Amino acid sequence: MCGIVGVLGNHEVAPLLVEGLKRLEYRGYDSAGIATINNGVLDRRRAVGKLVNLSDLLVHEPLAGKSGIGHTRWATHGAATVLNAHPHRAGSVAVVHNGIIENFRALREELAADGYIQESETDTETVALLLKRAMDGGSAPVEATRATLKRLDGAFALCILFEGEDDLMICARKGSPLAIGRGDGEMFVGSDAIALAPMTDRITYLEEGDWAVITRKGAEIFDAEDRRANRAETVIQVGATRVEKGGYKHFMAKEIAEQPVVLADALRHYTGSGANPALNLPEGLDFSQIDRVVMVACGTASYATHVAKYWFEQIAGIPAEIDVASEFRYREPVLSDRSMALFVSQSGETADTLAALRHVKERVAKVVSVVNVPTSSIARESDLALPILAGAEIGVASTKAFSCQLLVLALMALKAAADRGRISAADLAAHIAGLRNLPGLMNAALSHSEQIADIANELAKATDILFLGRGPMFPMALEGALKLKEISYIHAEGYASGELKHGPIALIDEKVPVIVLAPSDPLFDKTVSNMQEVMARHGKVLLVSDARGVHEAGEGTWAQLTLPEVDPVWAPILYAVPVQLLAYHTAIAKGTDVDQPRNLAKSVTVE
Ligand code: F6R
Repeated sequence: MCGIVGVLGNHEVAPLLVEGLKRLEYRGYDSAGIATINNGVLDRRRAVGKLVNLSDLLVHEPLAGKSGIGHTRWATHGAATVLNAHPHRAGSVAVVHNGIIENFRALREELAADGYIQESETDTETVALLLKRAMDGGSAPVEATRATLKRLDGAFALCILFEGEDDLMICARKGSPLAIGRGDGEMFVGSDAIALAPMTDRITYLEEGDWAVITRKGAEIFDAEDRRANRAETVIQVGATRVEKGGYKHFMAKEIAEQPVVLADALRHYTGSGANPALNLPEGLDFSQIDRVVMVACGTASYATHVAKYWFEQIAGIPAEIDVASEFRYREPVLSDRSMALFVSQSGETADTLAALRHVKERVAKVVSVVNVPTSSIARESDLALPILAGAEIGVASTKAFSCQLLVLALMALKAAADRGRISAADLAAHIAGLRNLPGLMNAALSHSEQIADIANELAKATDILFLGRGPMFPMALEGALKLKEISYIHAEGYASGELKHGPIALIDEKVPVIVLAPSDPLFDKTVSNMQEVMARHGKVLLVSDARGVHEAGEGTWAQLTLPEVDPVWAPILYAVPVQLLAYHTAIAKGTDVDQPRNLAKSVTVE
C-alpha cells in the first residue's frame, strides 16, 4: 500500500507528481505529500486526507523545482497526521516509502542513542535518519544509501532525494513493487507503471533487492549484492486516459456496468470467436498429472476461489483446497509434486498472496496465477500467469475483476476436466456455450439497477444484514456481505443457508434484512426451507432468484429480485451483478465514499 512517485524532469515537477499520485491514490488516501528540489533547496508540502487537500495546499503554497518525489499514504505506523505524512525529511534527505521496516524500533533506539531523534511515529523517518547519520559521518548519498539499505528488514519501496543534488534520485525495492520510467532526458519512478502512464511507457521493473541510482541520463541498477544489474526495459500498454469515469458517477458504477463487455472480451480470448467453441488456455496448463489444486487469495479474490472449488471438484473431479493467503503459510500445508498451486489476485501485488506464492514455489508441480495486472510481481513470479483481462479496476471494491476471475477459473476447471478425461466433447461445448450466454444475461441483470436502488434505500436503514446461499451461492453470500460492509459500513455477514439454524438465526428479527441468493438449481428447495425459517421469525427477506424461483417461493417475502434464468453451474457469475449493485446503491443511499471507502486501499502491499 502507499503509492510513491519520483521525477527528474525538465519542467516544473509538482503538477506531474500530483498527476502520478492521482493514479496511485487507489493504494491509500490517508495523507499525501511531495518534496522538490529547487535550485538545490529541498522543500516539501504535506496534507492529511485525500490528494485534493494536497492540491489545495499547493495552490496557496506552491512548490517549485524540476526534481521531486511524492507519496500517497495508507497508514501503518502512526495515525493520519501531517507529522506522519511522507515525504519524511532528515537534514538534507527526503524519503518516500511503501511497505514496513520491521526492525524500525531497534533502529530508532540506536539512532536516538546517537542523538538522532525522530519527530514522527513512522518507520519511514527511521530510514531518513539513518541516511542523515551516514551523511553526517561523511558518506556521499550513494554510499549512505548502500549502507542504509543493508540495515533494513521488512518490505519496502523507497525513493530518496538529496538537498543540493538536482540531478539525483535513489530508489530501492524489497518486497514492494517499483518501476523506473525513461523519458527524453527525464527519468521517473513509480509504485506501478500506471502512475507513470502520462509521462512514459518505457518501463523497467526493479527486481527483489534491487536499488538504482537515477540521473536524467538514466538509471544505474544494482542487485541485492550491490553488483551492476541489467534489467530489461519494456514498452507497456497502459492507456493514459484510463483513470476516467466515462460519464459514470463512480468508478465502481462504471466497472459494474463494464462486466458484460469485459467478460465477452475474455471469453473471446479464451474460447475463440467462432461458432465452435474451444478452450484456448496457455500451453503448459496441464492437469493430467495433477492430483490436487491448492488455491490461495485474499478478500474478494478468495471468494472467487471458494466458488471455483465447487467447479474443480464437481466438473473435473479434482480435489481443491482453498485458503486465505494470510493463513496459508502458517498451517503447514501438505503439498506434493503433483499439486498445482493457484494464486488469484486482481492487483498481483497483494503481500500475503505473494508471500504464500514464494512459500510454495519449490514445493509444488506448478505455480499458476490468475491476475489482472500481467506485469505484477505475482504474475512475474509464477510459472504461468493467466490474465483475467478485466481492464483497469480503480474502484477499491472489486467488481469486474471478480467476475473475470470467476470466468478464468471456470475455464480452468473445464480444462482440468478435459485433461483428466472427465468430460465429453459435447458437454465441454455445452459448458462453454453456457459461459458465452453470460454477457447477455448480465446485461439483463444490470437493467434492474433502479429496482435495486429502491430496495437499497430500505437496506440503508439497517444496522445488520445477512446474506444466505447454498452450494456455490454460499461464497456469493460471503462476497455480498463483504461488498456491502466495505462500502456502506453496514455490518453484514454471509452464511451457508443450512448453517443459520446452528446459531446465527438468533439474530433474526423484523429489523434484520436477509438477502437470499437462490437461483432455480438442485439446491433451491433446501434454500427456500431455510428462508422460511427466517420468515417464521419475522425476518425481512429479499429473495434474489429467477422468474421460476420467485413464482414458487416469493410469497410472503419482503421483496423479490427477478434475474434471468441461467445454467446453475455458472449462476455465481451472473449473481455477482445484483450483489454488487445492492452494495453500490446502499452506499449511495448512505452517502459514503463509494470508490475510496474509509480505511481501505486497493492494493494491499503489507502483510
Ligand atoms: C474487496 C476487495 C479486496 C481484494 C483483496 C485482494 O472488494 O477488493 O477484498 O479482493 O484485497 O486483492 P487482490 O485481488 O488485488 O489480491
